[in-house]
Amino acid sequence: MYVKEKADALNKLTAGFQASGTSGKPQRQRADQLVEVLNYHEWRYYVLNDPLISDFEYDQLFDLLKSWEEEHPEWVRPDSPTQRVSSDLTSDFPTVRHLVPMLSLANSYSVDDLKDFDRQVRKFTEIGDEADLLYSVEPKFDGGSIALLYENDILVRAATRGNGTEGDEITANARIMRSIPLKASFSAAGIHRAEMRGEAIISKDKFERVNKLRQDEGLPLFANARNAATGGLRMKDPKESAARGIEAFIYQLGYTEDKTGSETTASLSRHSESLKLLASLGFKVPTQHIRVCHGIDEVISYCEAWEEKRDSYGYEIDGMVIKVDELGLQTVAGSTAHHPRWAIAYKFKAKQATTKLIDVVYQVGKLGTITPVAKVEPVSLAGVTISSISLHNEDFIIQKDLRLGDTVLIERAGDVIPYIVKSFPDLRDGNEQVITFPKYCPINPDSSNPVELEQTGSEAAWRCGICNCDAQDLQRAIFFVSKAAMDIDGLGGSTLEKFAEYGWVKDIADIYELDYDSISELDGWGEKSVENLRMGIDQSRSNPIYRLLVGLSIPQLGIRAAKLIAGRIKHMLDLRDWTADEFIQIK
Ligand code: IVH
Repeated sequence: MYVKEKADALNKLTAGFQASGTSGKPQRQRADQLVEVLNYHEWRYYVLNDPLISDFEYDQLFDLLKSWEEEHPEWVRPDSPTQRVSSDLTSDFPTVRHLVPMLSLANSYSVDDLKDFDRQVRKFTEIGDEADLLYSVEPKFDGGSIALLYENDILVRAATRGNGTEGDEITANARIMRSIPLKASFSAAGIHRAEMRGEAIISKDKFERVNKLRQDEGLPLFANARNAATGGLRMKDPKESAARGIEAFIYQLGYTEDKTGSETTASLSRHSESLKLLASLGFKVPTQHIRVCHGIDEVISYCEAWEEKRDSYGYEIDGMVIKVDELGLQTVAGSTAHHPRWAIAYKFKAKQATTKLIDVVYQVGKLGTITPVAKVEPVSLAGVTISSISLHNEDFIIQKDLRLGDTVLIERAGDVIPYIVKSFPDLRDGNEQVITFPKYCPINPDSSNPVELEQTGSEAAWRCGICNCDAQDLQRAIFFVSKAAMDIDGLGGSTLEKFAEYGWVKDIADIYELDYDSISELDGWGEKSVENLRMGIDQSRSNPIYRLLVGLSIPQLGIRAAKLIAGRIKHMLDLRDWTADEFIQIK
């Protein structure tokens, strides 16, 4: 337990460490403070289940302490979090010893870290700066590690990583996972006994389905796919384990023995070859996503390309793993007590961060809905600087108990839109202010136009009832030109906002009466872009009618309904004669 005063002091220290980053010389007293700070955050995370900083921020502080301790081993305290052997052992399963320890990986967070790693590898292997060094680069799956043991081609044992030396025996659960072969012809490759390593994970699709089912059954939801997978490995009933749809991706042939019981390389000389062998034996290996790169520059490009597309991949990955491909060089490089020197994890930029909520502004949408938008202290999230985040509606603010001045946790998940996960009431100092939703239209305060609460589906939104307000007209024009509606090339929201400032566009109709000569006098508008704009707008005149219908922002009229109506008219004006009956007759 931490009393409030102590917690406040540790929160202040945390902010101080975060502000000063990795700069500054290590000092004994600072190292001691950092141990306390980290232990406090571990308690918040593991005991209270209520972390105050993101995993990434924790890792940064942890790495800082580790680097100081490496420089000054005499400072290492027995209660330092670096002295804790990480373990997922439970008392529910028998404990088994891995044939060789399952090490973890050192982390890297930047291109410079990767270049350092390359220099280190070249130094330890003494191959020099110019030698062509091959790296196998693979997705780093974010699940739970497992070790599979095969004897005489039969799966005889499966275990979790545990503390790296010993793990929980989960053979019954592994035997039910269809991606793990019960039998694999290792003997044909001269291997009598083999232990391989992999990651048990749940696909993003499956995770959503599992959580949906739990919701229907009133069970607590899993925070993420990793928790669902690691928990699933340890179900007492293998059928329950199977129901989670866990898949095992294999990433390493850990240890191999021949018939005589001696360690063998089975004529394999490269890691990538061993993965190909495992794929051919029926294991799930993401072969198409593994690239053997020549040198660190190729590694860097491949990692960066994956960081771009990670969200569209079907499984959660939190980075890439880079391994020296030549097994002989791996042996020469060797390992520290914790991790191999021939491999490193490249962690993608964090999707979560904490920042301060400094203001709330209000935007009016195309149908008058008023959306609160949080202004936060700019913070980098997955490589993008975030300063505005939608708060959706008033209920969201109330449910999350958000106040001006609060520290908030923000996240950019699968999609690219950031959102506020939660606030941290414990970090309040009393100066925070309750957010009051405006009673009058925030865009046109002079209008004294009271906003009305409107219930749509499960959400209650505030709407300003004035339909001819300029702000709403502009939002309708922006929607009109968007991909979903008229899809006008060369004309987007920010251009329309600029045209609105000049008074050129008030509503949709003005788009078709633009004065191109005036536009060509604006900064940044060359002949070509003006011509493109004119063509885009002209082309939209011959768009199918349904696009025009959608573009009018008529409540409840989406693309499906618009197509049904458009199929029954020749001209927009035909609709003037329609009565309710004509609409009702459409199936
Ligand atoms: S290699 C000695 N490759 O990342 C090398 N690990 O700390 C050990 N992981 O939980 C790991 N994908 O289970 C390796 N392609 C991959 C991986 C991978 C995920 C996990 C591993 C462990 C953590 C590394």
